[in-house]
Amino acid sequence: MADTAFELLLPSLQRASAKTLWVADENLIGTRLMANPAVTVIANRYDLFTQLKQHDWNARFSDFDFSEFADDSIDCLIYRVSKEKPVVHHVINQALRILKPGGRLLLAGDKGEGVKTYIDKAKKLFAGACDAQKASGDVWLAELTCPEAPGSKLLDDKQYTTLRPEAKDQNFEYWSKPGVYGWNKIDKGSAYLIEHLDAFLMTMPEPPRNMLDLGCGYGYLSLNASHLDIPITATDNNAAAIAACERNFDRYPINGKVVTADCADGISGKFDLILCNPPFHAGFGVEGDLTDRFLQAAHDRLSNVGVACFVTNLHIPLERKARDLFHQVEVIASSSNFKLTRLTHRM
Ligand SMILES: C[S@@+](CC[C@H](N)C(=O)[O-])C[C@H]1O[C@@H](n2cnc3c(N)ncnc32)[C@H](O)[C@@H]1O
Repeated sequence: MADTAFELLLPSLQRASAKTLWVADENLIGTRLMANPAVTVIANRYDLFTQLKQHDWNARFSDFDFSEFADDSIDCLIYRVSKEKPVVHHVINQALRILKPGGRLLLAGDKGEGVKTYIDKAKKLFAGACDAQKASGDVWLAELTCPEAPGSKLLDDKQYTTLRPEAKDQNFEYWSKPGVYGWNKIDKGSAYLIEHLDAFLMTMPEPPRNMLDLGCGYGYLSLNASHLDIPITATDNNAAAIAACERNFDRYPINGKVVTADCADGISGKFDLILCNPPFHAGFGVEGDLTDRFLQAAHDRLSNVGVACFVTNLHIPLERKARDLFHQVEVIASSSNFKLTRLTHRM
C-alpha cells in the first residue's frame, strides 16, 4: 500500500546529493526504491533493513542510534514520522544535534498521526525556521532549517535511549524503553496467555524440550515460561525490543538466546513449544498478512510433537487462517477480549 506521506519525501530522497540521513520506521516496510549513494539510512526493523540492503542502500540497523554521527555533520535528515511519540521526539532532537546550521529536516506525516503537533514543536525547537504545507488530504510536509542555537528546550523523548524497569508483577521486573511494543506495560493478551500456560502445558503429550517466543518484545512470555527450565529462543524484528529482551534475559538470567529476525526467518531447528502474541498492524497500515507470516513461521519451526499457542483479540480470524497449515487448530480458552488458539501438526 502506497504511503502518501512518504511519497512527499521521495523526490528529496531521490535527488539528495549532499550528506543525507533517512530515518526509516516500520511504516515503510515494503518500500522498494533505487538506492541513492548520498543517503545513509537507519532502520529499526530488521525486515525493512534487509529490504534496503537488498536494494543496495547504505543501511544501518539500530534502535535509531545516532551516536556515529557527529554534531553539525549532516546536510539533510528525511523522516516520515513514526507511530510513537517518544520515537518522533527522539529523532527530532537528534536532528537538531547532527544537522549543520542551515541543514534541513524534512518531516512528513498524516494529521491523524499528530504530524501537525510534531511540526509545531519542531518549529519552536528550530527557532521558527519552518516551511510547512498541507499536501493532499490530511497529509503534511514540513521543511525546517537548523538554527545556530535551539529555540526551545529539547522535546520530551521519555529518555528514549535508556533501558530501565518499566513494568512489574509478582514474579518479574521488566526492563524496557520507548520504541518497544507496549513498552511501559504488561500486555493484557500476553498476561492472559501466561495465566493459562500451565493448563495449556497439560495438553502436551510430553514436557517440551525447548521453546520459541515469536515476536518477543521485551520478553514477557519468555520470562514467564522460564520456570520450565528449557532453552528459550526469543526473536523479534525490532531493534529496541531485542535490546530490552537481551537485558531481561541477562538480568534473571534466562537459559536461552535472543535473535534478531523477520518472522523467525533464519532461525533453524524445531521447537516443542511456541508462544506468540502476534502483531497485526505494521506501522499505520493494517497488514493482515503479518498474522499469516507469523502462522507460517510457527508452522515451519514447530516440531512434530510440538504445540504452539497464539493469543489474539477475539476478532482476529486466526483459526480460519491456521487451518491450511496445521492439523489441529483449537481455541482452548477465551475471555471477552482474547482467545488462545492451540496449533499442532499431529492429527
Ligand atoms: C503484540 S507484540 C507482543 C510482544 C511480546 N511478545 C509481549 O507479549 O509483550 C508483537 C511483537 O511482534 C514484533 N514483530 C512485528 N513484526 C515482526 C516481524 N516481521 N518479525 C518479528 N517480530 C515482529 C513486534 O516488534 C512486537 O514486539
